[in-house]
Amino acid sequence: MANSKTSQPFGSVFSESMGVVEYSDNSYGEASIGPLKNFQMHPSSHALHYGSTCFEGLKAHRLSKGDVAIFRLADHARRFVHSISNLQVTPPSEAQIIELITETVRANLDDVPSPPGSLYIRPFYIGTTENIGSAAAPPTEAKLSVICSPVGDYFEGGVRPLTLLVEQQLARTTSQFGRIKSGANYVMALGPTLKAKAEHGADQVLFATGDQVTETGAANFFLASDHELITKDLDDSFLHGVTRDSIIQLGKDLGYAVSERSISVDDLSAWNSEAFLTGTAAVVAPVGSLIISEAKQDLGDGQPGSNTLKLRKALTDIHAGLAEDTHNWLTVVSA
Ligand SMILES: Cc1ncc(COP(=O)(O)O)c(C=O)c1O
Repeated sequence: MANSKTSQPFGSVFSESMGVVEYSDNSYGEASIGPLKNFQMHPSSHALHYGSTCFEGLKAHRLSKGDVAIFRLADHARRFVHSISNLQVTPPSEAQIIELITETVRANLDDVPSPPGSLYIRPFYIGTTENIGSAAAPPTEAKLSVICSPVGDYFEGGVRPLTLLVEQQLARTTSQFGRIKSGANYVMALGPTLKAKAEHGADQVLFATGDQVTETGAANFFLASDHELITKDLDDSFLHGVTRDSIIQLGKDLGYAVSERSISVDDLSAWNSEAFLTGTAAVVAPVGSLIISEAKQDLGDGQPGSNTLKLRKALTDIHAGLAEDTHNWLTVVSA
């Protein structure tokens, strides 16, 4: 059953159980797990008008021995608390988020496919205060919820070399929201991404506003060679990816010199080795070519590079329980 679900477009089929926690009177209630169903929301709900919403994205994997494990649960819970706090509302504790996610996954265990599929987990927060006069005030009522979706590959066509258009004028988002997973960021990146697809046949946009290479609309960016990995150093302009952090760690374990530093457009033009994207959805996705100021440039031979594939395998082997989880990234969830 799960495998036929993973052949559907990423994120378009949903598991039967969802988790919900209500926020009111300054506190978060008990987690309730029940059947997936529509929300009843007043049309004046704060999130619908004033954008008081954010989300997370993480995965549960089926291990080779049959157990199910959530990847880097605590790190995603921490980032979710950070995102919610930036909406100027009281966040739940990391422990409340961890419990809600774990209970929701436990209710959907049968839906976790075997590798290369996985269960994509989508926790989200929505401000539900009913008041269209409250643009200048944070919501006092909200829902925290978790839904799940069995998934296969994120990019159409599986693991294939992607083409990125390097955008030097428009920004993906602003520094206030760079590090938070707010829906507004994604809709902002949509215009440039649709244009890059329509006009250049690009798969994604690599934002390099002000000559600072940051990330694409939904993944972080790395340059790779036989001995070195380079990715942008952390600041408020972009999302601090959990996969980015995992690849930095695995790269070091495998003996790569890892540099977290600024990458300019000239650095990209001069690069003739590999590049890849990282993300929960994208995993480690090879980049085959870059379009810089209208000129298309292949990276290496334009095919997925051996270092990219080696790092991807190091990560997916941990996901699948085929390599030892030396960094304690897996939280096993049992029935
Ligand atoms: C804008 C953006 N950058 C980077 C990432 C990668 O982050 P992670 O590896 O935590 O999934 C994502 C996906 O969540 C994203 O939406």
